[in-house]
Amino acid sequence: MNMTMVEDGIGLSEQCSREGARILTQVLADQHVLQQKLHNYHWNVRGPHFTELHRLFERQYEVLGKTIDEVAERIRQLGYPAPGTMTEFLQLTNLTEYPGDYPNANVMVGNILEDHELLVRRIRWELIAEEHCGLDDGTADLLVSVMRAHEKLAWMMRATLSVAGEGTSRPETDLSETEHPEYFQYHSGG
Ligand SMILES: [Fe+2]
Repeated sequence: MNMTMVEDGIGLSEQCSREGARILTQVLADQHVLQQKLHNYHWNVRGPHFTELHRLFERQYEVLGKTIDEVAERIRQLGYPAPGTMTEFLQLTNLTEYPGDYPNANVMVGNILEDHELLVRRIRWELIAEEHCGLDDGTADLLVSVMRAHEKLAWMMRATLSVAGEGTSRPETDLSETEHPEYFQYHSGG
């Protein structure tokens, strides 16, 4: 933890708070886009697995809603404004929306899975990167719990895909060197 320039009442340096808020703001934007995508799929899913998927998407946006609130409030605790407009979320997000596209159920599940996995990879990477510039313990702890929540939600989508997605094959996604070269930089040499 970087304690060199204590600027606030909870013992965090300005740099530490700013870094934490930056990461959380990115996560908040991605979570909002993902939450909206889950609503979209909850409304528009169709096919023989309609009932299960309709409920699954609903449960996921409910879980996400609670996490979103914690992330936004942590940004405030660090002394920064929590963005709350779609305009800002769309500017900040790393996730992709597909306006006007109503794919089949398997593609919907696959899209949600990919978004959860992207969020997990980004948070994992930020946690590793921040070991080198002083992310505060409270924010790191929250990020770990957010990452764990997305890992669980991703697992549910992955398990659903393997049953509902008969005839489809989706390659395993993993950290790719082209996407996050820094991850490999921190891990090279053991
Ligand atoms: Fe509903």
